[in-house]
Amino acid sequence: MTKPFVYMTRQVAVEIVAALEEVAEVEVWPEDRPVPREVLLQKAEQADGLFVLLTDTIDEELLNRAKRLRIVANMAVGYDNIDVRAAKQKGVIVTNTPDVLTEATADLAFALLMATGRRLIEANRFLHSGGWQTWSPYLMAGQSVYGATLGIIGMGRIGEAVARRAKGFDMNVLYHNRRPRPIAEQTLGVRFCELDELLRTSDYVLLLTPLTPETRGLIGERELSLMKPTAVFLNVSRGGTVDEEALYRALKEKRIWAAGLDVFAQEPVPVDHPLLSLPNVVALPHIGSATYETRDRMARLAAENLIAVLSGKEPITPV
Ligand code: GLV
Repeated sequence: MTKPFVYMTRQVAVEIVAALEEVAEVEVWPEDRPVPREVLLQKAEQADGLFVLLTDTIDEELLNRAKRLRIVANMAVGYDNIDVRAAKQKGVIVTNTPDVLTEATADLAFALLMATGRRLIEANRFLHSGGWQTWSPYLMAGQSVYGATLGIIGMGRIGEAVARRAKGFDMNVLYHNRRPRPIAEQTLGVRFCELDELLRTSDYVLLLTPLTPETRGLIGERELSLMKPTAVFLNVSRGGTVDEEALYRALKEKRIWAAGLDVFAQEPVPVDHPLLSLPNVVALPHIGSATYETRDRMARLAAENLIAVLSGKEPITPV
């Protein structure tokens, strides 16, 4: 019996590819840039399984052409790059990589919070540029972290992990979510509030919600105008959840104090993007889960989902 065919859109650890090769014929896109659309479409036509990244668009056109396809394994927890409804209609299983990246992403979110609030990147640039002439009372002064109020929008696993870190800094943690999370309230002492109240009262606003039709553009002119002039806005979800032009204006006009952004509407964000011209923006290249250990765990979980489904078993983490 011939083995099923799996196409991987990026190279990952060799032992993970080797594990897949035990059950499938595997081909890997060899370059460290997204596979061209035309190549992906051609490979998808022959594939029983796809191992994809958030840079690959799995839409109806691809799914229509991929007649043999049984599973799309996304090496990411977010899956806004995949038309899940179309996949479901065609009987194609979609899997993601929850849990394994929770703590690494929460670490990064907290690091971004501190770097932005305390101006670490700006201060480092300032020193290197020779600007440091003397100690001075308000030199590179930022916003306090310890004891501040953190508002988390989108309280899932990562939100809870951030809240645990925030408790170590004695922060007052508010959250907004589609559904209240009573267990998190009991165990972490976080408090549910409506979005507007969260925006009005938080010193740090952290966006962690997945990108869906409901959350697209969730933070726009109106929402930014509710925030304090000293507020720090942080986005570790998807760029599409924020109106970047409105954010630029709010930062430029000092209606909010700073922003820390790990994600952008267009990625890679163009280096001449207006947001990158602002000193009060800390910008990162979408590295929320980027530790060696975590990225290996994500790749392994995606591969294990493929192995399970192609061996006739249930997927481990279906979406
Ligand atoms: C990264 O953004 C992910 O969704 O895993």
